[in-house]
Amino acid sequence: MTAQLNARGDVAVLVPAAGAGLRLGPGGPKALRLLAGEPLLVHAVRRVAAAPSVRLIIVAAPAADVEAVRALLAPVAPVTVVAGGAERQHSVAAALAAVPEDVGVELVHDAARALTPPELVESVAAAVRGGCAAVIPVLPVVDTIKEVGSAGAEGPSGPAEVVLGTVDRAVLRSVQTPQGFRRDVLAAAHAAGLAAHTDDAGMVEKAGIPVTCVPGSDLAMKITRPLDLVIAEALLHVA
Ligand code: CTP
Ligand code: MG
Repeated sequence: MTAQLNARGDVAVLVPAAGAGLRLGPGGPKALRLLAGEPLLVHAVRRVAAAPSVRLIIVAAPAADVEAVRALLAPVAPVTVVAGGAERQHSVAAALAAVPEDVGVELVHDAARALTPPELVESVAAAVRGGCAAVIPVLPVVDTIKEVGSAGAEGPSGPAEVVLGTVDRAVLRSVQTPQGFRRDVLAAAHAAGLAAHTDDAGMVEKAGIPVTCVPGSDLAMKITRPLDLVIAEALLHVA
């Protein structure tokens, strides 16, 4: 059944979905790869559409697949589909250009985080609505993290690496999406055309604007490598 979005909601969700999915291996753009018989993008959009304050969803699709993505998503939710760009940042910018001026809260959400619960979309949006300029969902880091450098010598699998130091894990966080922004804040960050960043909050942070953390969700894991698809399939029972 096609989801209804909330015409009185104050949130636009931009969904960059134009990546190639190289780390997932051969098989076409990642957002269109299947998880339990449905494309990742369908899983992602269905959950975003279920968040009560979402007024519109803008998907940046691979340029060659814009029409196919429109047809794919039409039965899922009313979405706007635009052509994405060569880098994630360009795809976000293309989606951003399609947001009407009266939307106050903008969320940027990876299609690759296909199982992200609607509750996380709402909690990020609520924090922006509550006065935060920029909001990211985060999880504690579970592994020990070390800084390494080249040893200069050849090891069994290429140049050997040696440990330079151990980073204090207690102050580190893994960052997820959706990331939320006051409209003017995201617009200014993109207009500044800052150097490549893997997330939008990175651009805002470089501009000196405070970025607030809210608790993330294990279900918002990013599907990146083949193992992640196996994990996501298992998680479908709880997502
Ligand atoms: N993305 C995008 N446009 C790009 C690159 C990435 O819209 N030019 C999107 C992806 O579709 C994904 C999200 O940004 O939903 C996060 O990117 P990532 O997980 O790196 O996906 P891919 O770039 O597709 O994967 P890979 O880096 O393995 O090629
Ligand atoms: Mg990528």
